Amino acid sequence: MTIHQLLEKMWKDYCDLNPAALKIYNLFTAEGEKVLNDHIALRTFQHPRLGLKKMAQTFINMGYRECDEYFFKEKKLYARHYEHDDEKLPKIFISELELGKISPDLQKQVNHLIEQVPDSVIQSESFTYSGRPWKMSHRQYLEMAKESEYASWVAAHGFRPNHFTVNVNALQKLTTLQSVNAFLEKHQVVLNKSGGTIKGTPAEFLEQSSTMASEIEVRFEDGLHKVPGCYYEFAKRYKLPNGKYYQGFIAASADKIFESTDRQTLH
Ligand code: NI
Repeated sequence: MTIHQLLEKMWKDYCDLNPAALKIYNLFTAEGEKVLNDHIALRTFQHPRLGLKKMAQTFINMGYRECDEYFFKEKKLYARHYEHDDEKLPKIFISELELGKISPDLQKQVNHLIEQVPDSVIQSESFTYSGRPWKMSHRQYLEMAKESEYASWVAAHGFRPNHFTVNVNALQKLTTLQSVNAFLEKHQVVLNKSGGTIKGTPAEFLEQSSTMASEIEVRFEDGLHKVPGCYYEFAKRYKLPNGKYYQGFIAASADKIFESTDRQTLH
């Protein structure tokens, strides 16, 4: 598989699972915009079998290199981003839940899920869009969400893109994040307001906004239930004093964007 084929498969998985995201993509193309991706984000558990490093391996094998690392103390997450020499390819942002820092109860639940993952799934080139490889109940999902929304998201959806991100610098008409957000709100898209609609400033060289993930129906052991799916993100980058666009991420902004998959209502 080539990197382009892999990214295409990940995009298809994301659109199939989240019709709301595809609808937003179509809004941009209907405006005559060509949508390029700034980055794609993946989530996993910090575990020797299938942690961040393991997930990154597929991309390393396809020419990506390891870049900056990020810490999210409160959410107990560690993350890294990866870049490709071909600057047209999206950056890959991978985060993992630090299992050593969560409660023994949640650790037990997560380890029980991981035990069910066959090695063949982890070794496969399709690992990053393979979905959920374990059995679990909606009751278990709610239990996990009480301590970590992040853990419950990975538990419900498994391994697949958490979000794609529109590269606002590459848009022709909607050239500011303000205009992108106004355009989305005009089309009744709900944006994540945690920490303000726009996270980051030009002085930090990166502005980001995101939708709130729409709820999608997921099959659990105890039936079909609606849970937050994936969201769509929008990023505008600014030039560093050296004239090059900043390619990293801002932990304080990403911290708020993680909340785009939080449950909005109590079930
Ligand atoms: Ni992102």
